[in-house]
Amino acid sequence: MERCNKIISNPDYQGYLQQTGALEAKRIYCRHNFEHLLTVARLTYILLLENGFPYISREIAYGAGLLHDIGRWQEYTEGKDHAEASAEMADPILKEAGFTLSERSLIIKAISQHRKKLDQKMHRSPLSKALSKADNLSRLCFLCTASDNCNKPDRQAHKGRLVY
Ligand SMILES: [Fe+2]
Ligand SMILES: [Fe+2]
Repeated sequence: MERCNKIISNPDYQGYLQQTGALEAKRIYCRHNFEHLLTVARLTYILLLENGFPYISREIAYGAGLLHDIGRWQEYTEGKDHAEASAEMADPILKEAGFTLSERSLIIKAISQHRKKLDQKMHRSPLSKALSKADNLSRLCFLCTASDNCNKPDRQAHKGRLVY
C-alpha cells in the first residue's frame, strides 16, 4: 500500500481536505472528510472482492476511494460538479504516487462517474460500480440527526439499515 501512503501524504491532497473541512465546518449533513474517504476506499475493495473482481488491486480500490471527493470544496466555491473536479485533481496525485497510465485512467473514470445512478446505460467498469455503491453504503443514516431533511432519496432509504 506504499502508493496509497504517498497519496495520503501528498501536500496537495492534504490541502484539498483542509479546504473542504473548513467549508463544511457548520454542515449538518454528511461531511467529506478523510474518514469518509477511507470508509469508501475500504468498502470499494470489499465490494470488488465479494463480486468476484479480486484482480483489481487493493491499491486501485483505495486510490479511487481516497480521492473520490477531494474536489468537493470546488463545488462549494465555484459550483463545479465535485465528481469532475475530484477526477481532475486526482490525476497528478496518482501520477506522483506512481500509478501507471492505465491504472490512473481506470481510477479517474470511476471518480468522474461516482455520482451517476447505477442503472444508467453508460459503460461502467466494476471499479466504477463498486465506488458508487460504496459511497452510498458508507453513510450511517440511521445515526444521523439531519436525516429527516436530507435531500438524497437514496439516503432516506438507508435510514432503517445498519452498517455494511
Ligand atoms: Fe461524492
Ligand atoms: Fe463520497
